[in-house]
Amino acid sequence: MSAVVRVALVTGAARGIGAATVAALAADGWRVVAADRCADDPALAYALGTRAELDQVAASAAGQAVAVEADVRDPEALAAAVRLAEERWGGLDAAIAAAGVIAGGVPAWQVPAGQEQAVLDVDLGGVLNLARVAVPALLRRPEPRRGRFLAVASAAATRGLPMLAAYCAAKAGVAGFVRALAAELGGTGVTANAVSPGSTQTPILDESARLYGLPAAGAFAAQQPLGRLVSPAEVAAVLAFLAGDGASAMTGAVIPVDGGLALLFLEGSVEGDIHAGERLADRAALLRRLCGLEELLRGQAVHLATDGELDAGELEASGRVRPERHVGLHVERLRGAAGLGDERG
Ligand SMILES: NC(=O)c1ccc[n+]([C@@H]2O[C@H](COP(=O)([O-])OP(=O)(O)OC[C@H]3O[C@@H](n4cnc5c(N)ncnc54)[C@H](O)[C@@H]3O)[C@@H](O)[C@H]2O)c1
Repeated sequence: MSAVVRVALVTGAARGIGAATVAALAADGWRVVAADRCADDPALAYALGTRAELDQVAASAAGQAVAVEADVRDPEALAAAVRLAEERWGGLDAAIAAAGVIAGGVPAWQVPAGQEQAVLDVDLGGVLNLARVAVPALLRRPEPRRGRFLAVASAAATRGLPMLAAYCAAKAGVAGFVRALAAELGGTGVTANAVSPGSTQTPILDESARLYGLPAAGAFAAQQPLGRLVSPAEVAAVLAFLAGDGASAMTGAVIPVDGGLALLFLEGSVEGDIHAGERLADRAALLRRLCGLEELLRGQAVHLATDGELDAGELEASGRVRPERHVGLHVERLRGAAGLGDERG
């Protein structure tokens, strides 16, 4: 840990990943401006973080954090949060965009326009707004700088999740923005990176479950090779690392913190000769253990079909392939690529 006190601004700080990030940074000795909208959004069907939650997050940081109400769609409110950091603690070293909302549950063309706008304006616009007011503050620090702009993207940034099109668009936008920002910041000493969480145990995931008609968010665990949901603290730990000196050579990176979810997403491109139905079967066999997943499975099947990865015969075949065979093929292939023999004898 550095002897010099470092200062961060975290949006979406009232709960979930943002709240865990405030706690992780405070534990590392940072001072933190913890910002959140602290009010529900009439366009959205679920509750957002509250002032009481935000105050609790700040109180838990024992004098190292201050709570600020700021909607990330309001650049003025974000600018005031940056000013607070500079006035109270002398500058800003990290800006972390964790605020996010979700909406969908129906095909893109049926999503109410107000919901779509909220997702784009908060999940993408909010990141750009934070950069607009925070990057100049990061650059106001004297050289040599160690500034960090960090954003929370999503596994949705790299894959088309049916019924979450605007969310996917916004998160893909975040990844693109961070890469371009990193290039623009060049040798200033300020870097830009993002994390892409998989299914993480927070209220936004409960809302995702509701949108997919699932009984509970725990059902998403089956999509991740780790076999469980990610915790907010696990995502926060990576953000805290990226904020620290250990990440000084990283910029423009979008880091999965997803329990391996991206591995499944990438199978299509690295396993061209493995039957698409087997891939679906792998997921289906895992998911079938849980009840009430028809919607999710149908979504995945529709997705593979629209990608041209699945036809009707394959869909039928997928019901007959055992997951062990799929895993076996996968291991064989990996060992072959690494020049290793088959250990199974
Ligand atoms: N939980 C997951 O599975 C998951 C997966 C991938 C990415 N993410 C992303 O992680 C980030 C954090 O989400 P979370 O999982 O902690 O969800 P969450 O719903 O628990 O927390 C989101 C926080 O953002 C705040 N917020 C919403 N709109 C805001 C606005 N306009 N201005 C300021 N604050 C606002 C909410 O009040 C809430 O406190 C989001 O960007 C989300 O998209 C989450």
